[in-house]
Amino acid sequence: SHDLLQPLSAAKLFLSSLANMDLDEEPLVVTQRIESALNSVESILAALLDISKLDSGQASVELSTFPMNQVLAPLRDEFQPLARKKGLDLRVVGCDAVVKSDPSYLRRVLQNLIANAIRYTVSGKVLVGARRHGGDLRVEVWDTGPGIPEDKRETIFKEFQRLESAGHAGEGVGLGLAIVERACALLDHPLQMHSQVGAGTGFTVTLPRSCGPTRPEAAQTPEAAGEQAGAHVIALVIENDKDVRWAMATLLETWGVSVFDVRDQAEALALLREVGVAPDILLVDYQLDHGESRLDAIDALRAEFGKLPSALITANRSEELRRSCDTKGIGYLNKPIKPAELRQLVQALGSHPVPALRSGPGQDAAE
Ligand SMILES: Nc1ncnc2c1ncn2[C@@H]1O[C@H](COP(=O)(O)OP(=O)(O)OP(=O)(O)O)[C@@H](O)[C@H]1O
Ligand SMILES: [Mg+2]
Repeated sequence: SHDLLQPLSAAKLFLSSLANMDLDEEPLVVTQRIESALNSVESILAALLDISKLDSGQASVELSTFPMNQVLAPLRDEFQPLARKKGLDLRVVGCDAVVKSDPSYLRRVLQNLIANAIRYTVSGKVLVGARRHGGDLRVEVWDTGPGIPEDKRETIFKEFQRLESAGHAGEGVGLGLAIVERACALLDHPLQMHSQVGAGTGFTVTLPRSCGPTRPEAAQTPEAAGEQAGAHVIALVIENDKDVRWAMATLLETWGVSVFDVRDQAEALALLREVGVAPDILLVDYQLDHGESRLDAIDALRAEFGKLPSALITANRSEELRRSCDTKGIGYLNKPIKPAELRQLVQALGSHPVPALRSGPGQDAAE
């Protein structure tokens, strides 16, 4: 395999010495083009070599036990600038689970999935999260992109197969998912895909959690310690005031909570259906536009997504409202919001059992 890559790196070296030769404008531009073309060749070759190695059975996995965050946190840092540049909201939910896998293959898998999610999503969100499921951890990458048509769901995993999608020509070669599929097979991590045209796509990689000592590296830094309050909690915030909403989301995010923030019930339902992720907690402002009771919003969301731990945030201090909250098992927080109280509330709500991902109607009946 080195035989292929070595002449290539030699070519790149020659090229860089050429670039140092004080060239005129025109040859310089050509030099840069050649360099970028060579870089593409290099990455295609590297991907092909990966695939052939994975196919030949020569690829050796080195299983080890490590905290999931060791892989997730660098990916977040790596992709955040790209997502921001595209105006996408990238959320990578921290996770303190310890897993058993090969960190470098696992990283490659997730890196390809996240790169795709960002590349093919024009607007909206990309959510990366992990959930415990029995002895496993399900790592999910969701986007609000164009979705993948039913009849293309096998094709996309084949080498050099790309879907017609305007605006992305030349951006990829169609090897990413071929690598993902093979690497998951090699690691023995089941890979699933859910997609809805026009709504988005989600990939799930299921990997075993380690039963060994938990959180070997927990809380080495103050930030990590701070994150624990809301680590791997997804909060849905319904608040009609844009500034308050923004402030709340920002505050929650500093505690490691991932936030979906929306202005009303309709937007909340639409978003959750779109991303297919049930939040762990609901924080709902009482005083919404039309003066209707926001307990309705909570009821509606619970009907569809299971009995989500919820709280009402309100300036309304009526005893009656408070009583109906108690009856329905809904938390209650007075406005103006005090950060310490909000944090306590999130902690209390977040420690409830978490409803399953993609929970559908009726799921809470079993609760
Ligand atoms: N999250 C996604 N949403 C919509 N379409 C997707 C998504 N991920 C992949 N696809 C489709 O599947 C095709 C194959 O994806 P794959 O990652 O294998 O290749 P690529 O992204 O085109 O190129 P490469 O990953 O090699 O740079 C893509 O070209 C795209 O059409
Ligand atoms: Mg790709």
